[in-house]
Amino acid sequence: MVKGRDSGMPPVELWESFFGSPADIFDALGCHTVHGDAVEFGCGYGTFTVALAPRVSGSLYALDIDPTMVSATAARAEQMGMVNIKSEQRDFVSAGSGRLDGSVSLVMLFNILHIEEPLDLLCETHRILRGDGVAAVIHWKHDIETPRGPPLAIRPPPQLCREWAERTGFRCRRLVHQLPGYPWHWAMLLQR
Ligand SMILES: C[S@@+](CC[C@H](N)C(=O)[O-])C[C@H]1O[C@@H](n2cnc3c(N)ncnc32)[C@H](O)[C@@H]1O
Repeated sequence: MVKGRDSGMPPVELWESFFGSPADIFDALGCHTVHGDAVEFGCGYGTFTVALAPRVSGSLYALDIDPTMVSATAARAEQMGMVNIKSEQRDFVSAGSGRLDGSVSLVMLFNILHIEEPLDLLCETHRILRGDGVAAVIHWKHDIETPRGPPLAIRPPPQLCREWAERTGFRCRRLVHQLPGYPWHWAMLLQR
């Protein structure tokens, strides 16, 4: 199992103490309803998966390389009765998402764009999104001290993520620097 760099997870209680209400992210980005399927690259404990799933009319494919994370997300989905969450162990770097071209309405890239191949991940995201699809991105702020997050040397600021996204065919529809309940994160919505 070769995870992207610095993408190990602390205990779930600690991880989730860094965020406000997960649903607030989707509200801030205007993702109230998702018509069709969605994909999450690196679902972790399912923190954001279970917040998005009720807004998705189709399936939400929650991908993670780490079987512990896949099980945690699946257990959470089952406990909450969210049958549209399909958690899957998958290395998206070597194996992609497994979704067809233009088949997905929303992709989640949460705390993941610091991996070694962000452009490849954005290309895969672009490939699977429908023409009117969107990608939601969040990441740790780089200009303040944060209690966790990848080293600053590999932590991409929003402007760099935006440049990468534009190079792979996206345009930035929304950038939110101050999220309610999220002192250490910014969020961005990319339009295919
Ligand atoms: C920093 S965590 C973020 C989890 C979740 N997105 C969140 O924000 O709560 C990154 C996740 O990506 C997963 N991951 C790292 N490299 C991966 C790869 N190549 N394929 C699939 N998952 C990967 C890790 O196992 C980890 O669960």
